[in-house]
Amino acid sequence: MASDFLRSRMSADDIAAALRDGRHVSDHAFDALLPNDSRTASLRFWSPVMVAVVAARWLELYGARRVLDVGAGSGKFCTIAALATGLVLDGIERRGHLVEQARSLAAALGVADRTSFMHAELDVAMLADYDALYLYNPFCEGGYDRRQWMDESLELTPEGAREDVARVEAALDAMRVGVQVVTFHGFGGELPDTFALRRSWSFAGGTLRFWQKARAGPSERRLVEHDWV
Ligand SMILES: C[S@@+](CC[C@H](N)C(=O)[O-])C[C@H]1O[C@@H](n2cnc3c(N)ncnc32)[C@H](O)[C@@H]1O
Repeated sequence: MASDFLRSRMSADDIAAALRDGRHVSDHAFDALLPNDSRTASLRFWSPVMVAVVAARWLELYGARRVLDVGAGSGKFCTIAALATGLVLDGIERRGHLVEQARSLAAALGVADRTSFMHAELDVAMLADYDALYLYNPFCEGGYDRRQWMDESLELTPEGAREDVARVEAALDAMRVGVQVVTFHGFGGELPDTFALRRSWSFAGGTLRFWQKARAGPSERRLVEHDWV
């Protein structure tokens, strides 16, 4: 059984070639590139391959060039998006060991020239440097019971998560017209109605939504994304 698994394993080169050519790669095959702890975390915390590919194509279709993944984790979204499109992707991630994983993954897949990973807490001042943000419910863990956390490398609190969400909401108000935001399972907050929903797609129990800022503020109401977990 184990040898069947090893024989059927795709190499990083095979996976990179398939994603570059627009061929399907399963999450099982992709996640086999990750270390054990991260592979286990993938189902709950990392973007499914299909979600990353669709999100990246939408971003490119609507003219994005430079994208920030807020809470980049193991680099799954950034590396897949870089293989599926010509986007340049930066990821910011508060867990140092995941930043190391993301850099190794990008090197193995041959996309280290179009991806970069910062080990830092999100500073919303940096959001203005990007054409687009990718938010896969990055702050959700803070609201979970600690048994549901990815690991115990950080002490998380609901207050900390609420503060991060509020900072992102305020930053969205200040962003320029045309900026793009893609959410998967929402981001725990509400978008200002200066953003228009351009695309949405439900997959694997979550909804991927593509938003674009359509007019300058002020916003009159907030738009709730209902499916965040
Ligand atoms: C749901 S995972 C998404 C991972 C990745 N974006 C993907 O789609 O595969 C959210 C990640 O955000 C990180 N994170 C949460 N809050 C953060 C913050 N304030 N600054 C930086 N990273 C953060 C977590 O450590 C976690 O790795």
